[in-house]
Amino acid sequence: MTTRDFLFVLGSSRPDGNSEILARRAAEQLPAGTRQRWIDLAAHPLPDFEDLRHDSDHTRPEGDDVALLLDATLAATDIVIVSPLYWYAVSASTKRYLDHWSGWLRTPGIDFKATLAGRTLWGVTALAHEESEVADPLIGTLNNSAAYMGMRFGGVLLGNGSKPGDVLKDEAALVRAKTFFARQAPLAAFPTASVYAQAPFALTP
Ligand SMILES: Cc1cc2nc3c(=O)[nH]c(=O)nc-3n(C[C@H](O)[C@H](O)[C@H](O)COP(=O)(O)O)c2cc1C
Repeated sequence: MTTRDFLFVLGSSRPDGNSEILARRAAEQLPAGTRQRWIDLAAHPLPDFEDLRHDSDHTRPEGDDVALLLDATLAATDIVIVSPLYWYAVSASTKRYLDHWSGWLRTPGIDFKATLAGRTLWGVTALAHEESEVADPLIGTLNNSAAYMGMRFGGVLLGNGSKPGDVLKDEAALVRAKTFFARQAPLAAFPTASVYAQAPFALTP
């Protein structure tokens, strides 16, 4: 079996938060020999993404946090977005990391999309709200991003909690963590019909 390289991208604005605690519980179950790399976006802050996609000069970043994240992303067979739920979406630092993917799609010499195709995107998220359905926008963001990139999508491991450590009281989440990374991750697909198309205004003749 080929060795897998898991990259955990931490997107909380505080250290030792619930998302990271839950992700570490899930990572404990990875088979021996699986490589793990953990990068905290708070310790390696990315600059605001500048949209230079349609300019002509694209160069590969060197020697900075963008280069670190790019190289780590290219080396990973499995990318785990570890982000708290912020306003029903991924955190700003996580979103900035994903925005940089758009620049990397144009970076010469790395074939970013082809390299990531077939690899797996996962998510681990803590949220304060009791009903997990409120995390659907975050799940949609990751699923659709994986679909766009031709990646597999392993889903999102959700845990409940407000202050750091609360997630350890979410026993169902801890049980889900035990098998989360063992699940099959199918090739991601865009949803076929948007729930928004079912809104009343779309039904009027
Ligand atoms: C800026 C901000 C926005 C938040 N938005 C939501 C939200 O939309 N829904 C929710 O259930 N919890 C929300 N929360 C609560 C966090 O998701 C919750 O405290 C979570 O445990 C934080 O994860 P962490 O410990 O990994 O940072 C928000 C917290 C902050 C600081």
